[in-house]
Amino acid sequence: MPLLHVDDVVVQFGGVTAVNHANFEVEQGSITGLIGPNGAGKTTTFNVVTGLQTPTSGRVVFDDKDITRMPVHRRSRRGIGRTFQRLEAFGSLTVAENVRTAFDIHDGFAGLFRSVQNDVDDLLDLVGIANHADDRADSIPTGTARLLELARALACDPKLLLLDEPSSGLDESETEAFGELLQQLANEGRTILMVEHDMDLVMNVCDTIHVLDFGSVIADGTPAQVRANPVVQKAYLGYSDDGPAGDDTAVLPLVNEEVVL
Ligand SMILES: Nc1ncnc2c1ncn2[C@@H]1O[C@H](COP(=O)(O)OP(=O)(O)OP(=O)(O)O)[C@@H](O)[C@H]1O
Ligand SMILES: [Mg+2]
Repeated sequence: MPLLHVDDVVVQFGGVTAVNHANFEVEQGSITGLIGPNGAGKTTTFNVVTGLQTPTSGRVVFDDKDITRMPVHRRSRRGIGRTFQRLEAFGSLTVAENVRTAFDIHDGFAGLFRSVQNDVDDLLDLVGIANHADDRADSIPTGTARLLELARALACDPKLLLLDEPSSGLDESETEAFGELLQQLANEGRTILMVEHDMDLVMNVCDTIHVLDFGSVIADGTPAQVRANPVVQKAYLGYSDDGPAGDDTAVLPLVNEEVVL
């Protein structure tokens, strides 16, 4: 039984079909990649899963329950957490206060009766930004802010964590550490669905990858299967039959773009 099933989802914005009968599953405990060119419908699909976008048609099934019409806060309570492609932290609060706020919102009334200070410290340690605890969130580098987003999402103890381009703004060694952190989270039982343009990260950490193009899933498989799939090479990696056969490094930079925040 998969933890998440995106079942024949369509999203139309006026004349634009952003998601076009998308179908894929996410297995419990896996790190799953959702990749595709700019405008392929990845963020819109995340919005459908988290409840920010009602699909034109289709269903979302999470943990054996149809959640298609469930409001965002109830999905969060059931165990769906996310980070945003555009950073959403409270700029005038410190890094620690941002994480504390996430705990407070998650805990609700019960939070009045416990101190979350240790939990905040643990989470900042876990994601590797404890040295920024007292910095204002609007003063930290983008890479640190992405890790803060992750800490805030983890404060809600999600079963399924959706990460929208989590490595943009991280340098090479930070990205490597981030990949190890994702594997640690998955080993602890979290399920991760990640939109990511850094193909090295995707290929290194994902168990399964789904490829979106023009809103439809054009391929699924292991990193090796997806990398070798000619449909993906043509539609996404910019590879053609005349291209440099077998030379991944020649084609991967085409999709390794920085996202403008
Ligand atoms: N609120 C909206 N209103 C109208 N069109 C939208 C809206 N949101 C997204 N779109 C369009 O839907 C399509 C899919 O957008 P989406 O942001 O889901 O793509 P993406 O795969 O996340 O792209 P990127 O890699 O650039 O983040 C695009 O053509 C986009 O312009
Ligand atoms: Mg996007």
